[in-house]
Amino acid sequence: MEQKIKSELEAKLKGELSFEESLAKHTYFRIGGPATVLIIPADIEDLQKTLSYLHSNGLEYRVLGNGSNLLVADEGFAGVVIKLAGSLNEIEIDGSTVRAGAGARLPVVARRAAKAGLAGLEFGVGIPATVGGATVMNAGLGASASVGGLINRVEVLSATGAKQSFEQANCEFAYRSSRFQEGSSVIVEVEFGLTVGDSQNIEAKMKELINSRRQSQPLSLPNAGCIFKNPEGDSAGRLIDEAGAKGLQIGGAKVSEKHANFIVNDGGARARDVLELIDKVRSLVNRKYGILLELEIEFWPSRR
Ligand code: FAD
Ligand code: EPU
Repeated sequence: MEQKIKSELEAKLKGELSFEESLAKHTYFRIGGPATVLIIPADIEDLQKTLSYLHSNGLEYRVLGNGSNLLVADEGFAGVVIKLAGSLNEIEIDGSTVRAGAGARLPVVARRAAKAGLAGLEFGVGIPATVGGATVMNAGLGASASVGGLINRVEVLSATGAKQSFEQANCEFAYRSSRFQEGSSVIVEVEFGLTVGDSQNIEAKMKELINSRRQSQPLSLPNAGCIFKNPEGDSAGRLIDEAGAKGLQIGGAKVSEKHANFIVNDGGARARDVLELIDKVRSLVNRKYGILLELEIEFWPSRR
């Protein structure tokens, strides 16, 4: 990327800019090479300016939330990454409506809602997502509860920086999927419609969910959550486990002994180790069950 572009971006924006920034520092897996430019916009105007500048200069970009569903290549991403975690993180509660900025952390929103006596988002307490990332992925539990079912409206900026609003019915929410996985819109705010409940009951439910997660998921090593989506009516974790893949290791990447649908970074794992392990697990399951598991995590730079 030309120095001129870097200097113009620096001059234009109030937010944080870094060059050749390691994406391993910004992903849960702790894996990945550098982004040419990483921008953390100061506010929505800053984000609008960024998008319209990138658009007029024909520059490619990716949006990064909390990096909890991403595997970034060892070579990194040759382009601009716009990180929203920690920025655009206002949370506003009005009756049973919660409006949250896309960079707000889902567990923080869930706890604020619980404190206000609002039920529905309890499951969000254990998902290390931003509100934007959770909306893109329609994050949730198995098939039983997900953010899409609680969302009234999603506000986005288009690639040119123009504002657009989507009602729930137009968001195309399905299991781990939404319309926001296509195209290059940036989610900036989400409105949730919750249900009035009792704070103590809501907090007790959250505690239970956290405990059961601690027992079944490997939370002490870097990972990106479940690697594969569950095939309809089954669990990828169970299939991988029964195919005998638990404990398989390539370089620093290892199929978790605790939950077979998690690959953990056991120390110094490279993206290519994880990719090789994914192929191996996939072919073991395919050979045993004739099922081709579909990736849930996203690999950068290629699209899903
Ligand atoms: P990222 O990983 O940063 O990005 C994911 C995708 O969203 C990318 O395509 C990115 O470009 C896009 N994106 C992010 N923000 C925006 C935005 N504002 N506008 C437009 N695009 C955007 N998932 C579940 O569903 N249920 C679980 O129970 C669960 N448990 C997990 C447990 C652990 C320990 C971990 C590490 C992960 C878990 N996950 C779970 C996976 C992950 O947390 C979710 O997929 C989450 O929704 C990703 O959010 P993020 O902010 O980290 O997004
Ligand atoms: N199982 C095994 N072996 C394993 C793992 C699981 O036999 O190694 C069995 C369990 O004993 C259980 C069944 O598989 O009978 C389901 O396991 P679990 O309850 O752990 O749920 P899951 O289907 O594996 C889903 C989501 C998780 C979410 C949990 C909440 C997917 C792909 N996974 O996991 O989401 O946290 O439910 O219970 O939908 C994610 O998407 O990143 C994620 C972590």
